[in-house]
Amino acid sequence: MRNILIVGIGAGNPEHMTIQAINALNSADVLFIPTKGARKTELADVRREIVSRFVTNPNSRTVEFAVPERKTADRTYNQGVDQWHAAIAGIYEGLIGGELADNRTGAFLVWGDPMLYDSTIRIIERVKARDRVAFDYSVIAGITSLQALCAAHRIPLNLVGKPVEITTGRRLKESFPEKSETSVVMLDGQQAFSDINDPDAMIYWGAYLGTPAEITISGRLAEKSAEIAERRAKAREEMGWIMDIYLLRKGADFDEA
Ligand SMILES: C[S@@+](CC[C@H](N)C(=O)[O-])C[C@H]1O[C@@H](n2cnc3c(N)ncnc32)[C@H](O)[C@@H]1O
Repeated sequence: MRNILIVGIGAGNPEHMTIQAINALNSADVLFIPTKGARKTELADVRREIVSRFVTNPNSRTVEFAVPERKTADRTYNQGVDQWHAAIAGIYEGLIGGELADNRTGAFLVWGDPMLYDSTIRIIERVKARDRVAFDYSVIAGITSLQALCAAHRIPLNLVGKPVEITTGRRLKESFPEKSETSVVMLDGQQAFSDINDPDAMIYWGAYLGTPAEITISGRLAEKSAEIAERRAKAREEMGWIMDIYLLRKGADFDEA
């Protein structure tokens, strides 16, 4: 039976790699590295650096593969994601069946942690369900961008005894600030924070966290919103891409609510 390891590699700093993740990569015969097109070569470079710094197994080899872009035209969001996952499942099936002999181990290097806004686990489950190539798999946790954000700003994620929401830019307006006191926003291509008008809200924003290009800005949302939007646009233009995450908060520890 082939063995697949879904390995969280951290969110940008190669030193996010855990010892468990390093050992997992060294136990693999083949390392599968996704590349996402020329504009984000830095992300593939982090993965390559991880392999060159931490993989000491002389018998392993690396296989890079292209991840297709998600199509959005003429379909709902869910249809687009479903079709995208089906296409990636086909690629994974080809990699597992074509690059791994029976009883060999392959590792997928996954950004951050595989459980957080990442579909590797569900796509691997799809491949299993197709039942054309036999394998088992396990998941190795990694440092997430959410942890990197809180560490960079030196903040706890939650207020004392309070819940936390993790959401996307697309859905932020459904919850913050009416239903949630702490919302972490990921995958926000629309700067959803710009539409929040709450004089008490604080923002803790971070882009390219853990990389040499890291930017952090924090403060009262009403005072920082325009600065973040401007800084974000400038960085995106200079780098050709951006990855950012932020935490919005209202209230304070020990507030009665
Ligand atoms: C597809 S999700 C992957 C999340 C990843 N699995 C994790 O554990 O952080 C990509 C989103 O994660 C966030 N992200 C990941 N790495 C980041 C980084 N180094 N700096 C800022 N945001 C990051 C951004 O919100 C980005 O849009």
